[in-house]
Amino acid sequence: MLEQVTKVHDESRQGEAFAAEQGNDQVYNKKFYIESYGCQMNFNDSEIVASILNQEGFGATRNYEEADLVLLNTCSIREKAEQTVRKRLQEFRKIKQSNPGMLVGVLGCMAERLKAKLLEEEKLVDLVIGPDAYRTLPALIEEAETGQKAVNVLLSREETYADINPVRLDSNGVTAFVSIMRGCNNMCTFCVVPFTRGRERSRDPYSIIQEAAALFNNGYREVTLLGQNVDSYYWVGPSPNGGQDEIITFAGLLERVALISPLLRVRFSTSHPKDITDEVLFTMAKYENICNYIHLPVQSGSTRILQLMNRTYTREWYMKKVDRIREILPDCGLSTDIITGFCTETEEDHQETLSMMEYAKYDLAYMFFYSERPGTLAARRYQDDVPEEVKKRRLTEVVELHRRQALESMQQDVGKTFKVLIEGTSKRSENDLFGRNDQNKVIVFPKEQYQKGEYVYVKVEDCTAATLIGKVVLNH
Ligand code: SAH
Ligand code: SF4
Ligand code: F3S
Repeated sequence: MLEQVTKVHDESRQGEAFAAEQGNDQVYNKKFYIESYGCQMNFNDSEIVASILNQEGFGATRNYEEADLVLLNTCSIREKAEQTVRKRLQEFRKIKQSNPGMLVGVLGCMAERLKAKLLEEEKLVDLVIGPDAYRTLPALIEEAETGQKAVNVLLSREETYADINPVRLDSNGVTAFVSIMRGCNNMCTFCVVPFTRGRERSRDPYSIIQEAAALFNNGYREVTLLGQNVDSYYWVGPSPNGGQDEIITFAGLLERVALISPLLRVRFSTSHPKDITDEVLFTMAKYENICNYIHLPVQSGSTRILQLMNRTYTREWYMKKVDRIREILPDCGLSTDIITGFCTETEEDHQETLSMMEYAKYDLAYMFFYSERPGTLAARRYQDDVPEEVKKRRLTEVVELHRRQALESMQQDVGKTFKVLIEGTSKRSENDLFGRNDQNKVIVFPKEQYQKGEYVYVKVEDCTAATLIGKVVLNH
């Protein structure tokens, strides 16, 4: 079996590892190495790229020194994310000097944002390919092999890679990500994504259901449906049963995926607060296997700042949404994203963010200080006028409050019993397993005779701010 790897560089809040294993016996005559940055969608894209490259006779390697092709799938969400990639490119420069035949490609959001400019700025780069152009990789590699620089950064209104079966990279064999849409139409003023990923488009629901069912048949027990804004998923198309066109909303898609098997857990991310509907919440309540966990980024607790961000909801509206979630799904886990120091943010605005956190009692938060991105609406319209030290001090306050709240949230679970899907061996000890409960909290417990992919009931006896610790009380 060939090794395949995607290294993890968590520059966005969503950047968990999920690269994989390649389970076929095909012989490859060339090798590629890929590293991914940014959100889960970007990682999932790397799996699509791996699939396209396999077809072209490229097998993966974990060792870039032996690669014919080195790819960085990049993120532009904050300046730091881009700096990380630039530093990495410096390191590849040395290897390229001793192996001039090696091709270096930049994929993803940074490729899309900087386009051919990247070739001028980073001389060792041979290929620049935007997120909607991966099907043209083989032709671009051929072009680059002749010594020419190759670029394709065309965005598409249709591309969803629906028919491409992602090669699961560094997979645990239990949990997987399935992209259900691409792009974003929201134009939050701070955000670069609408520019790097293009218009929003939803993927054919039947290809999604097929992919999720195939994962289940291969032993996977959890799928996370991915999109920048999953609640605006919308599909109109011919029904497979004939007759009139059918309309499938996110709630409808969620239900169809949940019906694949009661043993397949379903999660999703991200929900824009303006779009998550009661229908989605009721669908979550109806199916035990749709996990009670919602990532609902608030960004700020101040209505004035939310308006400047073009988030289209107010503080009060968001609070009502939280109330509604708690009403319909009383034990729902809730997480968020927060930006401190957005343009014109005052101490009062910042206090409102802190009080919003007190109100919503997030189990998990991804917190950032504002990083101005060239070309965004905020960069064009507003001045980035909060001094860096103020942005950072406010971020520290937000992080400290969150730490206290996260620990409290964990402590409240001590004594409770949860159904846990086992994902693998704990990092801390060979004798322990770990998994997650419905609310997405990590639980560690003694291995005994249990195995990954199984469901067990674990009674929580202790906790840290990030992990619940317990013992199996019942096998499913
Ligand atoms: N589509 C998701 C967000 C994707 S980006 C949503 O709307 O919720 C992930 C997070 O990065 C955002 O929620 C935001 O908190 C943060 N982010 C985006 N642009 C940023 C910027 N310019 N500076 C700091 N943080 C930013
Ligand atoms: Fe960016 Fe807003 Fe779209 Fe999220 S919803 S990707 S923050 S523009
Ligand atoms: Fe980054 Fe692009 Fe995702 S900017 S967060 S990799 S959509």
